[in-house]
Amino acid sequence: MSTFSQKASSSASSQSTSEKRFSIEHLLSPEFSTNSDDGSDVIQGLTQPDKSLPSRYLYDDKGSQLFEQICELPEYYPTRTEAEILRQYADEVAQLTGACELVELGSGSSTKTRLLLDAYQRQGYPLHYSPIDVSAGILEDSARQLLADYPSLQIQGIVGTYEQALPTLAPAPLPTRMVSFLGSTLGNFNQRQCDAFFSLITTSLEAGDYFLLGIDLQKQKEVLEAAYNDSQGVTAAFNLNLLNHLNWRFGGNFDPVLWEHWTFYNQSQAQIETYLKCKRWHSVQLEGLDLTVEFERGEAIQTEISRKFDLQQMQSYLEAQGLPPARIWTDSKQWFGLLLCQVQPASSQL
Ligand code: TRP
Repeated sequence: MSTFSQKASSSASSQSTSEKRFSIEHLLSPEFSTNSDDGSDVIQGLTQPDKSLPSRYLYDDKGSQLFEQICELPEYYPTRTEAEILRQYADEVAQLTGACELVELGSGSSTKTRLLLDAYQRQGYPLHYSPIDVSAGILEDSARQLLADYPSLQIQGIVGTYEQALPTLAPAPLPTRMVSFLGSTLGNFNQRQCDAFFSLITTSLEAGDYFLLGIDLQKQKEVLEAAYNDSQGVTAAFNLNLLNHLNWRFGGNFDPVLWEHWTFYNQSQAQIETYLKCKRWHSVQLEGLDLTVEFERGEAIQTEISRKFDLQQMQSYLEAQGLPPARIWTDSKQWFGLLLCQVQPASSQL
C-alpha cells in the first residue's frame, strides 16, 4: 500500500515499484499559507453587521463525509440529476473533447468522475486525472479507490483552494485539458466571486481547453427548500459542523448546541440562503485569530448561498467570459444543466 507524505512539497508515492501513478501536493499547510487560508476571511465575515462565514469551511473531512450523505438523501436531487445527465451524455463529452487531462475542482468523493473516466476509457483515451479539493482525507481516499479500479489511470492531486491550485497546475500531460466544476458549486459564489472565479479559469487554461460546468436550475420553491432542509437532519448537521471546523482550525469555542440550521429560498434573488441561527446571547473566542465575537439571540450567520440559474442567462454570461458553451445538456425535468464550454483564443474575445 502506498503511503502519503504530509510534506507540503510535491510528494509522489508509487502504487507499484515500476510506475508512479499517484502524486499529491499539499498547498494548505502553514508554509503555503496565503491570504485565502489564514483566517482573514473568517475575521472579516464575523466582524460585519450582517455576519457570514465562507462556505468552504463546511468541507473539513467530517463535513465532506456529511456532504456525501446529503448527496444520497431522497430530497437532495442535484447530485442524482447531474449524475443522470452525465450517465447519458459522458460519451458525447469525451467525443467532443478528445483525449484530455481531467482536472476536477472540488472533487470530493469523485463519484461522478467515474462516469467521465468510463467514457474516456471507452474511447480508448489515456486517463489523466487531477483532483483538487480542500479536504485531504476525502481526496486521498477517493484517489486510492480510483487507482484500484482504473489500472491505467494516473492521478496528480492537489489539496488546496481553487485560487491556490489552479495557477500551480503542472504542464498538461495531454494536449488538452478539461476542468470540471460539478454539483452546482458555482451557485455557492456571489456575483463578484463568480466573476473572479472565471477570470482565474480563463487565465489558468489555454485556448482550446474545455470547462465542464454543472448548474442547478430555477424550479419550485418547495422542491428547493426540501433539498436544503432534509427530514433526517443531515443538512443541519453538515451546516453545524462548520463551527467544529472553526474550533479546531482557529482554536475556537463555538458551542454547536447554541445554534440551529436555518434555510429558505429567496425567490427574488433566485438563491437558497443558509444560516446558523443563534439560540441565545453569548460570546465566542477564536484564539488563533485573536477574535472575540458577541452573538445575540436570533442573530444569524450566513454560511452559504446556493444560486439557482437560468440556462439562457448562463449561456450569455459564459460567452461574455470567453467560454462559450459548445453543448448544453439537461435532464427530462430541466432541473439541472451540464454545459461544455471551450476557451476561445484571446483574439476572438475582443
Ligand atoms: N454545493 C451544494 C449546493 O449548493 C452544497 C450544499 C448542499 C450545501 N446542501 C447544503 C451547503 C446545505 C450548505 C448547506 O447544493
